[in-house]
Amino acid sequence: MSENKIEHSRSLRSARWFRKDDLPGFVHRSTLAAAGWSREDLMERPVVGILNTWSDINPCNLNLRDLAEEVKTGILEAGGIPLEAPLMSISENIIKPTSFPFRNLLAMEAEESIRAYPFDAVVLLGGCDKTQPALLMGAASAGVPCLFMASGPATPRSSTGGDLANATGVWRLVDELRAGELSEGDFAAFERSVMGTAGHCAEMGTASSMAVICEALGLSLPGSSLVPAVDRRRTRFARELGRRSVRMAAEGSPRPNEILDERAFDNAITLLCAVGGSTNVIIHLLALAGRVGVPLTLERFDEIARRVPLIANVQPAGEHLTERLMTAGGVPALLKTLKPLLHLDARTVDGRTIGEVIATAEVIDEDVIRPLDKPVKPGGTLVVVKGNLAPDGAVMKTCAADPKLFSHRGPAVVFEDVQTIADRIDDPELGIDENSVLILRNAGPVGAAMPEWGMLPLPRHLMERGVRDMLRISDARMSGTAYGAAVLHVSPEAAIGGPLALVQDGDIIELDVAERRLQLCVEPEELERRRQAWQPPLSRHVRGYRNLYSQHIEQAHRGCDFDFLRGANEETLPEGLF
Ligand code: FES
Ligand code: MG
Repeated sequence: MSENKIEHSRSLRSARWFRKDDLPGFVHRSTLAAAGWSREDLMERPVVGILNTWSDINPCNLNLRDLAEEVKTGILEAGGIPLEAPLMSISENIIKPTSFPFRNLLAMEAEESIRAYPFDAVVLLGGCDKTQPALLMGAASAGVPCLFMASGPATPRSSTGGDLANATGVWRLVDELRAGELSEGDFAAFERSVMGTAGHCAEMGTASSMAVICEALGLSLPGSSLVPAVDRRRTRFARELGRRSVRMAAEGSPRPNEILDERAFDNAITLLCAVGGSTNVIIHLLALAGRVGVPLTLERFDEIARRVPLIANVQPAGEHLTERLMTAGGVPALLKTLKPLLHLDARTVDGRTIGEVIATAEVIDEDVIRPLDKPVKPGGTLVVVKGNLAPDGAVMKTCAADPKLFSHRGPAVVFEDVQTIADRIDDPELGIDENSVLILRNAGPVGAAMPEWGMLPLPRHLMERGVRDMLRISDARMSGTAYGAAVLHVSPEAAIGGPLALVQDGDIIELDVAERRLQLCVEPEELERRRQAWQPPLSRHVRGYRNLYSQHIEQAHRGCDFDFLRGANEETLPEGLF
């Protein structure tokens, strides 16, 4: 062990637990003796926590148990003490009522676990949609040096329809089924084959978007994020991450707020736009920025989006799965292509700047990672719209929508909740035609914990006639794997009295993407009359976490964090004598 002894440039955080010749020091060391650590180990080595969201119920994160072992190997090789701690796993498709409220719960668990335990650095292991932002938010507030590693994309094994990703493929085939173009038998075959391996969704959905964003933020090892979950090259990155974490633990640097500055967020948003990434990432980045005091706004997303073309030919906006993006050069090659649009002096956890990382990167396949002047689609992959229907803004992923709807005027058809849509969308009595604007309300952060219902289903009779896109507006979110002309995250939401609550069937709604405008064409006096008559829905959550959630959740344009979780503690140690 002596050759592995780390020269510490400062007194370690864990020293407060282990390097004292008093009763608490005795208790802490003797406790961990039961886990195999000697007095000398605990006196000399830095401690790295591995926060793991592995669970049997979350196949997206199923390989994290093995990856944690590889991270431990790296930590031991570099002379550190690895201590793995299991945290809540949020399994996107299984957890009810929706995954969204649990992001903040896991963020709290991560933050308090880091602060309460003797970790000098932490490795964050997430994968499925909410586990990634939750770990980042918690670690950002805890302030201890951290590195992130995702589980990696799954490798879909579909026998139906070619290169079909887990979820985008599902949406596409559900559409074909509803339009009568796919047999029930083929659909059943798809169900049996689509989820072939561990790993998160393999298109540029929320999980892949968050994973690549972590690289652009500088929190993951360059080149690591798109390696498939089952690919052994992920093992190599996990060991390297473990070794690097010991160096960061020993130096107490860089801390999250030394990485997560305005440059890092600009770089992340630029990459998000270039890959046609998930609108959910907008919410997560706004929340993360709030933790580190970066004044990020929705307007910044729109400003950056205007100058960034879609260069990654990856689903749902393009053709391929993320594995092709990795073999085309991965995130370093994407960033190299985006070089003129980036802050090259932004730092990364591997000790280099973004500029140094991309210096050795190479684009291997220009069909998958396109040059800036030959993009998959020109600029504006996402837009932020405002108007009297969304005074604080709403977002739209324009790269995955039919451009015919970018300037649209049509009558509203209003649904009060997701159940009514499921029950009535095919009802011919509603008189929906392709010009109608489908509205879903009471699905915002307070109203229904923001489910991914923003891609409202289209009526069967229109699908049978070949209609594949319509304007849809909601205060809900949309899966990063989905597509369509969906205006999402309308803020303020209907359940707290936002203007969306006042829309009536037949009201004319106007969307003008070029002008970034979303207008409810009803006279102000009439809207005021409706506002006076409006009654807030009663909250069903009188106790427990959901009660805390509904009292403190912020609106979408602020990232849906809890108001009391913004910011970070100056002091990384817990209070009290120890
Ligand atoms: Fe877990 Fe898509 S369901 S990443
Ligand atoms: Mg999702």
